[in-house]
Amino acid sequence: MSTVLVLNGPNLGRLGSREPDVYGSQDLAALERLLMTDAAGRIEIDLRQTNDEAELISWLYEAVDTGSPVILNPAAFTHYSYALRDAAALVTKAGVPLIEVHISNPHARETFRHTSVISAVATGVVAGFGFASYRLALHSLLLPTD
Ligand code: DQA
Repeated sequence: MSTVLVLNGPNLGRLGSREPDVYGSQDLAALERLLMTDAAGRIEIDLRQTNDEAELISWLYEAVDTGSPVILNPAAFTHYSYALRDAAALVTKAGVPLIEVHISNPHARETFRHTSVISAVATGVVAGFGFASYRLALHSLLLPTD
């Protein structure tokens, strides 16, 4: 069975207690359970979180090498990490899907969040639906392709 990498950037390890008015009160373990239920044995869910840009980049290299599709919440790196963008471009240029997701709708928040340096190299973007952003991304990966 193939695996989807669900990669989460800085501060997302604090979901549940971090700004619950913006991000809700559920943590990453709850997100993992939701995605595993949705996947229903059709694809493995490998959910990870790091505060380290280099580690996130190394996981994108892993996606290139294994051909594993990626659901990526780059968190604050979204707005300024050209290094992460270049690594994300390696994924999609290899023909591997990479969906950028956000729990909140960054466009409805502070101006610095309106720019994503990742979106232009992502396969698609889902934002503003809470944890359902990840679920919608997963469903898009499970749709038949033709
Ligand atoms: C976020 C939005 C980013 O602006 C922010 O830095 C995050 C989370 C989201 O999921 O809504 O950490 O990516």
